[in-house]
Amino acid sequence: MIGREELIEVAISARERSYSPYSRFAVGAAVLCRDGSVYIGANIENSSFPLCMCAERNALYNAMMDGKGRDDFLALAIVADTEGPCSPCGACRQVIHELFPHEAPIYLANLSGARMTTNATELLPFAFDGHDL
Ligand code: THU
Repeated sequence: MIGREELIEVAISARERSYSPYSRFAVGAAVLCRDGSVYIGANIENSSFPLCMCAERNALYNAMMDGKGRDDFLALAIVADTEGPCSPCGACRQVIHELFPHEAPIYLANLSGARMTTNATELLPFAFDGHDL
C-alpha cells in the first residue's frame, strides 16, 4: 500500500491535468482506496466562474463513478503551489464530510515540502449533514 509521500506525489502529477486558465491556481488531489487503487482529480475551471470544480471533489467523484464509496477510502491528498499546506475550500470540506471517512487521514501539501495531516472532523467541526434533514 502506498504511503503519504507517494500519494502526495500522485496528487502533484494530477495537478498537471488542471484546467485553470482563469485563476492560474492549479490544484491536484488523489484518493487512496483499500484495494490499492488511486483516483485523481484536478481543478477544472470555466469562463462562467461558478461552474469551476475543485480538485478534491473531482477526485472523490472520479472514485465514486468507478463504484467506490466511503468504506473504500483510506486517505486523501491535496496539493497546490501554496506557501503552506494547501487548505481545502469550505465547499470541499462539506463534500469531504459527506463522502469521506471522518477519521481517515487527509494530507495537505505544497510543492516545497510542507505537509499537514488532518481529517474531515477537524476540517469541518459541527458539520451540517444528512442527519439534520
Ligand atoms: N480550488 C481547488 O481545486 N480546491 C480547493 O479546495 C480550493 C480551490 C480551485 C478552484 C479554482 O479553480 C482555483 O482553485 C482558485 O480558487
